[in-house]
Amino acid sequence: MKRVVVSLIIFTFVASTAFAISGGNPYKGRVLFKKSCVPCHKMGTEAGTLSPSDKTMAQWDRYFNVKKRKHPGSVFVDLSQKDRLDIWQFVYDFAADTDHPQT
Ligand code: HEC
Repeated sequence: MKRVVVSLIIFTFVASTAFAISGGNPYKGRVLFKKSCVPCHKMGTEAGTLSPSDKTMAQWDRYFNVKKRKHPGSVFVDLSQKDRLDIWQFVYDFAADTDHPQT
């Protein structure tokens, strides 16, 4: 019985972390988002306004996986690994399909 409980706990843990990214700092991410993304992404620009709730977690993953090169230019590639993770965490934590999407 004890073994079953332990494996259940481990399973739940693995299942819940398999999808989510973690380790980034969403508070720093918010600041970096304003600094690195908003200058292009604001009202009246070609890029248009952008907020975390514009995309689902899976969609954000596609942008932040730099190998996919989904974003025009080299913005994502030029960010340091740490900064990219922080921004990723921020948009991810407030994505459209979270409990608390943010516009
Ligand atoms: C140099 C200007 C620039 C910067 C900086 C920039 N972007 Fe963009 N972004 C664009 C342009 C241009 C597009 C393309 C808009 C289009 O094709 O309609 C775009 C498109 C996007 C899209 C797709 C929008 C959609 O409606 O589907 C996302 C998501 C995005 N950017 C996220 C980001 C994030 C996150 C950052 C900060 C890490 C960022 N961008 C920084 C210029 C920029």
